[in-house]
Amino acid sequence: MPTSRLHSVILDKVMEEASHTKSFSFREEFPVRPGQFIMVWIPGVEEVPMALSQLGPVKAITAKNVGSSTEALHKFKEGDRIGVRGPYGNSFDLSQEHYLVAAGGTGIASVIAASEALAEAGKKVVTVFGAKTKEDLILLERSRKYGEVFIATDDGSVGYHGVVSDLALKLMEDRRFDGVLACGPEKMLQTLEGICRQRDVEIQVSMERFMRCGIGLCGSCSLDHYLVCRDGPIFKGEQLVGLRDFGHYRRDRAGRRVPM
Ligand SMILES: Cc1cc2nc3c(=O)[nH]c(=O)nc-3n(C[C@H](O)[C@H](O)[C@H](O)COP(=O)(O)OP(=O)(O)OC[C@H]3O[C@@H](n4cnc5c(N)ncnc54)[C@H](O)[C@@H]3O)c2cc1C
Ligand code: FES
Repeated sequence: MPTSRLHSVILDKVMEEASHTKSFSFREEFPVRPGQFIMVWIPGVEEVPMALSQLGPVKAITAKNVGSSTEALHKFKEGDRIGVRGPYGNSFDLSQEHYLVAAGGTGIASVIAASEALAEAGKKVVTVFGAKTKEDLILLERSRKYGEVFIATDDGSVGYHGVVSDLALKLMEDRRFDGVLACGPEKMLQTLEGICRQRDVEIQVSMERFMRCGIGLCGSCSLDHYLVCRDGPIFKGEQLVGLRDFGHYRRDRAGRRVPM
């Protein structure tokens, strides 16, 4: 698929994952690597960046309803059309043998394709997955196919009672991982980056910023001197050290830098 062309695709299946989260699958052949994203055109609304939660001939996005565009997307049914362009951005480096995959909330959608690729390559994957409550845990059965899964919930409704970064630290105290792949709220990513730096474990995080063009032209996705669409969305821990924005500021639709 040419990277800048918009392709109209028919939604094959729409699956309710949790009360505010749905997966939308479609058939489209294009090469994509775990961690890359696409721009999703919601007809009549706007385009939003989304990770591909499923690669292969049948692809999927898993979207949480957080605002006007994702609310509109959630009204789409099987047989409706959306537009997709991409894939864009870099991908996870999966060259090591033993990974801890850490996901917070919908962040699992950005890392699950990496877990699948690692498992297919015979590598070892342990997932630590955190959510506010047990009803928010999504893609759990699929994650379990790729390796051991440990759960943390903020309210203690299932698994470890606390935040995912605390559970990740406990696991890292017990076992040695070659690398950590992470996606979730930026405070969680910031804490994990600090833990990994202290323990000398390489971390790669998938970053989210408001995006318009997705191809490095408009500047809306800036993260200090980086453009997340062009230089990311995957960043190594060492790239994030010392950034003023990481964990603190994002840009709103008007390009204003606002505290998180
Ligand atoms: C590379 C990339 C991959 C993504 N993958 C997924 C995914 O797999 N599943 C998914 O549900 N979402 C994903 N997102 C986030 C998704 O693009 C936004 O949630 C979406 O654009 C919100 O649009 P909206 O109009 O519905 O909400 P808006 O009205 O734009 O925003 C609603 C609220 O969400 C906040 N918000 C909006 N966008 C972001 C963002 N990027 N980061 C943090 N806060 C934000 C706003 O500040 C506001 O508080 C991804 C973002 C990026 C950059
Ligand atoms: S979204 Fe336009 S530069 Fe990144």
